[in-house]
Amino acid sequence: MYKWVMATIVSFAGLLAVILLLTGLPEKTEFPLQDHDFIVPEYAVDAEASMQIYKSRCISCHAADLKGGGGPALEHIGSVLTKEQIYKLVSNGRGRMPAFKERLSEEEIITITTWLSSLQ
Ligand code: HEC
Repeated sequence: MYKWVMATIVSFAGLLAVILLLTGLPEKTEFPLQDHDFIVPEYAVDAEASMQIYKSRCISCHAADLKGGGGPALEHIGSVLTKEQIYKLVSNGRGRMPAFKERLSEEEIITITTWLSSLQ
């Protein structure tokens, strides 16, 4: 009898620990990130993957040589804007620049942002 009482108490304690663990976990980071704790994660520059994205999504306005046309030149954008600014601009768009957060994955936006940011 005593054994059963102990077993019940122990399993309730276990259950409580699991509930606490699940509800106590920090909230998952939402995309797009909020302005305050906003930092683009460090990725290695992947020029090849970025060019793929660029060719399918950006080339029409920013040109094959990055000198612009429908949009501004991006050849030296890394010395004009921070990585965070580029990320936000590509995600949310601005003026005639379309927003890409619904069309590209977060990973793709980080990839192209990291590459653009390396263009000094
Ligand atoms: C429909 C045309 C169009 C497409 C497609 C486009 N852009 Fe743009 N982009 C613009 C325009 C126009 C601006 C200037 C926005 C403004 O009014 O501030 C701009 C601005 C920018 C800027 C900031 C330049 C600066 O000097 O401030 C970056 C960075 C940029 N675009 C990156 C991209 C990337 C990356 C893609 C592809 C994922 C892309 N753009 C696709 C039109 C476009």
